[in-house]
Amino acid sequence: MNSSSPFVACTEVSKSYADGDQAVDAIRELSMEAHGGQVTAIVGPSGSGKTTLLHLIGGVEHVDSGSIIAAGVDLGELSSSEQTAFRARNVSFVFADLNLLPVLSIYENISLGLALLRLGQPEAHQRAMSALDLVDLADRAHRLPATLSSGERQRVAIARALARESALVIADEPTAHLDHAMALQITNLLRSLGADHGSCVLMATHDSAVAEGADQVLRLEDGRRID
Ligand SMILES: Nc1ncnc2c1ncn2[C@@H]1O[C@H](COP(=O)(O)OP(=O)(O)O)[C@@H](O)[C@H]1O
Ligand SMILES: [Mg+2]
Repeated sequence: MNSSSPFVACTEVSKSYADGDQAVDAIRELSMEAHGGQVTAIVGPSGSGKTTLLHLIGGVEHVDSGSIIAAGVDLGELSSSEQTAFRARNVSFVFADLNLLPVLSIYENISLGLALLRLGQPEAHQRAMSALDLVDLADRAHRLPATLSSGERQRVAIARALARESALVIADEPTAHLDHAMALQITNLLRSLGADHGSCVLMATHDSAVAEGADQVLRLEDGRRID
Protein backbone atom coordinates (compact mmCIF):
# COMPACT_ATOMS: atom_id res chain seq x y z
CA MET A 1 0.00 0.00 0.00
CA ASN A 2 1.13 3.52 -0.69
CA SER A 3 -0.19 6.46 1.29
CA SER A 4 0.83 9.24 -1.13
CA SER A 5 -1.82 10.38 -3.59
CA PRO A 6 -1.97 8.24 -6.73
CA PHE A 7 -0.51 9.49 -10.03
CA VAL A 8 -3.33 7.74 -11.91
CA ALA A 9 -6.82 7.13 -10.56
CA CYS A 10 -9.58 5.47 -12.60
CA THR A 11 -13.09 5.51 -11.16
CA GLU A 12 -15.77 3.24 -12.63
CA VAL A 13 -14.43 3.63 -16.13
CA SER A 14 -16.33 2.06 -19.01
CA LYS A 15 -15.47 1.99 -22.71
CA SER A 16 -17.14 0.16 -25.54
CA TYR A 17 -16.45 -0.05 -29.26
CA ALA A 18 -18.92 -0.41 -32.08
CA ASP A 19 -18.43 -3.66 -33.98
CA GLY A 20 -20.92 -3.58 -36.85
CA ASP A 21 -24.27 -3.14 -35.11
CA GLN A 22 -22.97 -4.77 -31.91
CA ALA A 23 -21.21 -3.00 -29.04
CA VAL A 24 -18.10 -4.60 -27.54
CA ASP A 25 -17.69 -3.67 -23.88
CA ALA A 26 -13.90 -3.46 -23.72
CA ILE A 27 -13.69 -1.97 -20.18
CA ARG A 28 -16.49 -2.28 -17.64
CA GLU A 29 -16.80 -0.10 -14.52
CA LEU A 30 -13.13 -0.42 -13.75
CA SER A 31 -11.51 1.38 -10.83
CA MET A 32 -7.78 1.37 -10.08
CA GLU A 33 -4.95 3.50 -8.76
CA ALA A 34 -1.29 3.59 -9.69
CA HIS A 35 1.52 5.45 -7.95
CA GLY A 36 4.66 7.24 -9.07
CA GLY A 37 7.84 5.25 -8.46
CA GLN A 38 6.04 1.96 -9.00
CA VAL A 39 5.42 -0.56 -11.75
CA THR A 40 1.81 -1.66 -12.11
CA ALA A 41 1.34 -4.77 -14.24
CA ILE A 42 -1.97 -5.24 -16.05
CA VAL A 43 -2.48 -8.92 -16.68
CA GLY A 44 -5.19 -10.78 -18.54
CA PRO A 45 -5.87 -12.94 -21.57
CA SER A 46 -5.98 -11.55 -25.09
CA GLY A 47 -9.10 -9.43 -25.55
CA SER A 48 -9.52 -8.71 -21.83
CA GLY A 49 -9.13 -4.95 -22.30
CA LYS A 50 -5.48 -4.30 -21.40
CA THR A 51 -4.66 -2.17 -24.45
CA THR A 52 -7.94 -0.27 -24.18
CA LEU A 53 -7.21 0.61 -20.55
CA LEU A 54 -3.70 1.83 -21.45
CA HIS A 55 -5.09 3.96 -24.31
CA LEU A 56 -7.63 5.55 -21.98
CA ILE A 57 -5.03 6.34 -19.29
CA GLY A 58 -2.51 7.58 -21.87
CA GLY A 59 -4.99 10.06 -23.29
CA VAL A 60 -5.24 8.29 -26.65
CA GLU A 61 -8.96 7.58 -26.27
CA HIS A 62 -11.85 9.01 -24.25
CA VAL A 63 -13.86 7.11 -21.64
CA ASP A 64 -17.60 6.58 -22.26
CA SER A 65 -18.32 6.98 -18.55
CA GLY A 66 -16.43 7.22 -15.28
CA SER A 67 -13.33 9.36 -14.75
CA ILE A 68 -9.56 9.18 -15.09
CA ILE A 69 -7.27 11.56 -13.24
CA ALA A 70 -3.63 11.39 -14.36
CA ALA A 71 -0.85 13.81 -13.38
CA GLY A 72 -3.50 15.87 -11.60
CA VAL A 73 -5.49 16.29 -14.83
CA ASP A 74 -9.06 15.08 -15.39
CA LEU A 75 -8.64 13.50 -18.82
CA GLY A 76 -12.38 13.69 -19.53
CA GLU A 77 -12.15 17.50 -19.48
CA LEU A 78 -9.50 17.76 -22.20
CA SER A 79 -10.13 18.85 -25.78
CA SER A 80 -8.28 16.82 -28.37
CA SER A 81 -5.48 19.43 -28.66
CA GLU A 82 -5.15 19.48 -24.87
CA GLN A 83 -5.02 15.68 -24.95
CA THR A 84 -2.12 15.87 -27.42
CA ALA A 85 -0.30 18.34 -25.18
CA PHE A 86 -0.92 16.09 -22.16
CA ARG A 87 0.65 13.14 -23.96
CA ALA A 88 3.65 15.16 -25.17
CA ARG A 89 4.33 16.50 -21.68
CA ASN A 90 3.67 13.44 -19.53
CA VAL A 91 3.56 10.15 -21.38
CA SER A 92 6.01 7.76 -23.03
CA PHE A 93 4.54 4.82 -24.92
CA VAL A 94 6.27 1.52 -25.51
CA PHE A 95 4.01 -0.30 -27.96
CA ALA A 96 4.30 -3.90 -29.06
CA ASP A 97 4.17 -2.75 -32.68
CA LEU A 98 7.08 -0.39 -32.15
CA ASN A 99 6.37 2.58 -34.47
CA LEU A 100 10.02 3.39 -35.18
CA LEU A 101 10.55 5.55 -38.26
CA PRO A 102 12.33 3.37 -40.85
CA VAL A 103 14.36 6.14 -42.52
CA LEU A 104 15.94 7.34 -39.26
CA SER A 105 18.78 5.67 -37.38
CA ILE A 106 17.93 4.34 -33.96
CA TYR A 107 19.80 7.30 -32.42
CA GLU A 108 17.65 9.68 -34.50
CA ASN A 109 14.47 7.82 -33.54
CA ILE A 110 15.31 8.39 -29.89
CA SER A 111 16.30 12.03 -30.49
CA LEU A 112 12.95 12.60 -32.19
CA GLY A 113 11.21 11.41 -29.02
CA LEU A 114 13.18 14.06 -27.10
CA ALA A 115 12.51 16.94 -29.49
CA LEU A 116 9.22 17.88 -27.82
CA LEU A 117 11.00 18.27 -24.49
CA ARG A 118 13.19 21.10 -25.87
CA LEU A 119 16.34 19.94 -24.09
CA GLY A 120 19.69 21.48 -25.03
CA GLN A 121 21.64 19.46 -27.60
CA PRO A 122 24.31 18.20 -25.13
CA GLU A 123 21.68 16.92 -22.71
CA ALA A 124 19.57 15.36 -25.49
CA HIS A 125 22.67 13.59 -26.86
CA GLN A 126 23.73 12.40 -23.42
CA ARG A 127 20.24 11.07 -22.62
CA ALA A 128 19.91 9.27 -25.98
CA MET A 129 23.32 7.62 -25.66
CA SER A 130 22.92 6.56 -22.04
CA ALA A 131 19.48 5.08 -22.82
CA LEU A 132 21.02 3.11 -25.73
CA ASP A 133 23.80 2.01 -23.42
CA LEU A 134 21.25 0.72 -20.87
CA VAL A 135 19.67 -1.54 -23.49
CA ASP A 136 23.09 -2.62 -24.84
CA LEU A 137 22.70 -0.92 -28.22
CA ALA A 138 25.12 2.02 -27.96
CA ASP A 139 27.39 0.43 -30.58
CA ARG A 140 24.46 0.25 -33.03
CA ALA A 141 23.27 3.86 -32.60
CA HIS A 142 23.81 4.67 -36.31
CA ARG A 143 21.87 1.64 -37.65
CA LEU A 144 18.47 1.81 -39.34
CA PRO A 145 15.67 -0.11 -37.57
CA ALA A 146 15.36 -2.60 -40.47
CA THR A 147 18.92 -3.79 -39.86
CA LEU A 148 18.13 -4.87 -36.28
CA SER A 149 16.40 -8.00 -34.99
CA SER A 150 12.86 -7.62 -33.66
CA GLY A 151 14.15 -7.98 -30.09
CA GLU A 152 16.71 -5.23 -30.70
CA ARG A 153 14.00 -2.98 -32.13
CA GLN A 154 11.94 -3.63 -29.02
CA ARG A 155 14.90 -2.48 -26.94
CA VAL A 156 15.09 0.72 -29.02
CA ALA A 157 11.44 1.43 -28.16
CA ILE A 158 12.33 0.96 -24.48
CA ALA A 159 15.38 3.22 -24.82
CA ARG A 160 13.19 5.93 -26.32
CA ALA A 161 10.94 5.83 -23.25
CA LEU A 162 13.96 5.73 -20.90
CA ALA A 163 15.49 8.81 -22.52
CA ARG A 164 12.29 10.85 -22.16
CA GLU A 165 12.17 10.20 -18.40
CA SER A 166 8.40 10.72 -18.55
CA ALA A 167 6.25 10.84 -15.45
CA LEU A 168 3.95 8.22 -16.97
CA VAL A 169 5.35 5.28 -18.93
CA ILE A 170 2.84 3.08 -20.73
CA ALA A 171 4.22 -0.20 -22.00
CA ASP A 172 1.93 -2.52 -23.97
CA GLU A 173 3.38 -6.06 -23.97
CA PRO A 174 6.93 -4.64 -23.94
CA THR A 175 8.53 -8.07 -23.75
CA ALA A 176 6.43 -9.71 -26.48
CA HIS A 177 9.31 -10.12 -28.95
CA LEU A 178 12.02 -10.95 -26.44
CA ASP A 179 13.59 -14.11 -25.05
CA HIS A 180 13.34 -14.78 -21.33
CA ALA A 181 16.68 -13.21 -20.33
CA MET A 182 16.04 -10.03 -22.30
CA ALA A 183 12.44 -9.89 -21.01
CA LEU A 184 13.75 -9.85 -17.45
CA GLN A 185 16.31 -7.17 -18.35
CA ILE A 186 13.56 -4.98 -19.84
CA THR A 187 11.35 -5.50 -16.80
CA ASN A 188 14.26 -4.44 -14.60
CA LEU A 189 14.79 -1.33 -16.74
CA LEU A 190 11.12 -0.41 -16.38
CA ARG A 191 11.43 -0.94 -12.65
CA SER A 192 14.43 1.35 -12.47
CA LEU A 193 12.45 4.02 -14.37
CA GLY A 194 10.05 3.90 -11.45
CA ALA A 195 12.69 3.75 -8.73
CA ASP A 196 15.22 6.24 -10.18
CA HIS A 197 12.96 8.80 -11.86
CA GLY A 198 9.77 8.34 -9.84
CA SER A 199 7.89 7.45 -13.04
CA CYS A 200 4.53 5.75 -12.81
CA VAL A 201 4.96 2.68 -15.02
CA LEU A 202 1.94 0.80 -16.39
CA MET A 203 2.76 -2.42 -18.19
CA ALA A 204 0.33 -4.77 -19.89
CA THR A 205 1.58 -8.33 -20.16
CA HIS A 206 0.25 -11.84 -20.42
CA ASP A 207 3.56 -13.23 -19.14
CA SER A 208 3.11 -13.97 -15.43
CA ALA A 209 6.91 -14.18 -14.90
CA VAL A 210 7.17 -10.58 -16.14
CA ALA A 211 4.26 -9.47 -13.93
CA GLU A 212 5.92 -11.00 -10.85
CA GLY A 213 8.49 -8.20 -10.78
CA ALA A 214 5.80 -5.50 -10.51
CA ASP A 215 4.88 -3.58 -7.36
CA GLN A 216 1.18 -4.04 -8.10
CA VAL A 217 -0.63 -6.55 -10.30
CA LEU A 218 -4.07 -5.78 -11.66
CA ARG A 219 -5.99 -8.66 -13.28
CA LEU A 220 -8.50 -8.16 -16.08
CA GLU A 221 -11.01 -10.57 -17.52
CA ASP A 222 -13.59 -9.56 -20.08
CA GLY A 223 -13.05 -5.85 -19.34
CA ARG A 224 -13.48 -6.23 -15.59
CA ARG A 225 -11.03 -6.26 -12.72
CA ILE A 226 -11.11 -9.65 -11.11
CA ASP A 227 -8.68 -9.17 -8.18
N1 LIG B 1 -10.96 -0.28 -32.25
C1 LIG B 1 -11.73 -1.32 -31.87
N2 LIG B 1 -12.91 -1.59 -32.47
C2 LIG B 1 -13.71 -2.62 -32.07
N3 LIG B 1 -13.40 -3.45 -31.05
C3 LIG B 1 -12.23 -3.24 -30.41
C4 LIG B 1 -11.32 -2.18 -30.78
N4 LIG B 1 -10.26 -2.23 -29.95
C5 LIG B 1 -10.46 -3.25 -29.11
N5 LIG B 1 -11.64 -3.87 -29.38
C6 LIG B 1 -12.22 -5.03 -28.66
O1 LIG B 1 -12.21 -4.71 -27.26
C7 LIG B 1 -11.85 -5.86 -26.50
C8 LIG B 1 -10.60 -5.56 -25.69
O2 LIG B 1 -9.50 -5.43 -26.57
P1 LIG B 1 -8.03 -5.00 -26.10
O3 LIG B 1 -8.14 -3.83 -25.19
O4 LIG B 1 -7.20 -4.87 -27.30
O5 LIG B 1 -7.59 -6.29 -25.24
P2 LIG B 1 -6.13 -6.87 -24.90
O6 LIG B 1 -5.15 -5.78 -25.06
O7 LIG B 1 -6.25 -7.36 -23.48
O8 LIG B 1 -5.89 -8.00 -25.84
C9 LIG B 1 -11.69 -7.00 -27.49
O9 LIG B 1 -12.90 -7.70 -27.56
C10 LIG B 1 -11.39 -6.27 -28.80
O10 LIG B 1 -11.79 -7.03 -29.89
MG1 LIG C 1 -3.40 -5.64 -26.22
